[in-house]
Amino acid sequence: MQNTVSGFSKLSKSEKIDWIVATYFSKNNNARTVLEQYWNSNSKLQQLHDEFIENTITNFYLPFGVAPNFLINGKSYTIPMTIEESSVVAAASKAAKFWYSRGGFKAEVISTKKIGQVHFTYDGSSTELNTFINTIHSKFFSETASITRSMEKRGGGILDIKLNDKSDDLDNYFQLHATFETMDAMGANFINSCLEQFAKTLKREASTNLKGNLEIIMSILSNYVPECLVRAEVSCNISELNENRNLQPEAFAEKFVQAVKIAEIEPYRAVTHNKGIMNGIDAVILATGNDFRAVEAGVHAFASRNGRYSSLTHAEIKGDRFRFWMDIPLALGTVGGLTSLHPLVKLALEMLGRPSARELMQIVAVAGLAQNFAALRSLTTTGIQEGHMKMHLMNILNQFEATPEEKDKLVAYFKTNTVTHSAVSETLNRLRQSN
Ligand code: MEV
Repeated sequence: MQNTVSGFSKLSKSEKIDWIVATYFSKNNNARTVLEQYWNSNSKLQQLHDEFIENTITNFYLPFGVAPNFLINGKSYTIPMTIEESSVVAAASKAAKFWYSRGGFKAEVISTKKIGQVHFTYDGSSTELNTFINTIHSKFFSETASITRSMEKRGGGILDIKLNDKSDDLDNYFQLHATFETMDAMGANFINSCLEQFAKTLKREASTNLKGNLEIIMSILSNYVPECLVRAEVSCNISELNENRNLQPEAFAEKFVQAVKIAEIEPYRAVTHNKGIMNGIDAVILATGNDFRAVEAGVHAFASRNGRYSSLTHAEIKGDRFRFWMDIPLALGTVGGLTSLHPLVKLALEMLGRPSARELMQIVAVAGLAQNFAALRSLTTTGIQEGHMKMHLMNILNQFEATPEEKDKLVAYFKTNTVTHSAVSETLNRLRQSN
């Protein structure tokens, strides 16, 4: 079977589907129908989505849900979340409600610096290179003036450019390490444009002013943003942790803190613990049109910054107070990118009151902390499966093509019975046989 193709991107959408169907599906397969049923009948809207990427053949739906009742720094929010995992929005909503009556979440932006680097090699003296960089330092700023002008008007720009000598780690390797403030933009395009101009300036100046050979390797922002940091936290009197889950508040607080401490020292647990945090974070990042891969990469690097992968959240009991918090690096934007293009992203940001990037950092961090609180609360009391399977019940019923009446009956039945795949299958069969 011939399954390579040239000039694919030049084909029309319909021709692309023809090729996919002919190459990967038998003649009477319904692949084309499946793909076409997700097309939007509003052709302008469809075209907008088509043009986000190359070779779009259809749309891929994810649920867009909301978690209401978040109180953050005294302000109420309904948080938009885009995610496929059944229990995430329910868990966020529960945690939000729990903390609403206990003072809500506090969040603060610690810093907002972003990093970009020009990586290059130089085969001459590093002292000479250092002096040279100091001499041309102001040119990096003057020659990027047209790029930085509007960012500077908004209060941002290039904060610092320094030379890093990395030649002990890799022969002849140096870098220009630049720090940026990008205000409400995530800033990837701004940073990369500045870096590429730095590289041009560097190469040109080096060719006439340096004895050795300088080669630019690449210029790119870093998604490691330990100085673009936000803190989210909750605290209350231990007596307020009245869980009603067969555990006294003191015992619950202690178990909870112990669960966090395990994730602080045990990487196997830390990865799952942090994955739960990212359930909340990614869902808000997606709904608000931000880059979840960038955030994921940066967050996990941050979680390993001390040499051992560790929990992002921390918890303590001091006297009669329980405190639970997280510092997390989040480089987010509320302007640029998809934020003014994708209608649902626009709606999500509108619902959040058109936040600044700093405010969005706080909201996203809180969503992550809430998610972790909900997960640990279940894990240390009832176990995770009870709530998880309750939420998953609808997926199982859909797998068995249950009718709305069957769904109502089974949802009622499983309010007091344990949900497992086989229990649902057997109960549904019994119901169908009795009718
Ligand atoms: C599942 O998506 C997330 C959890 O595993 C997180 C955790 O274990 O803390 C429940």
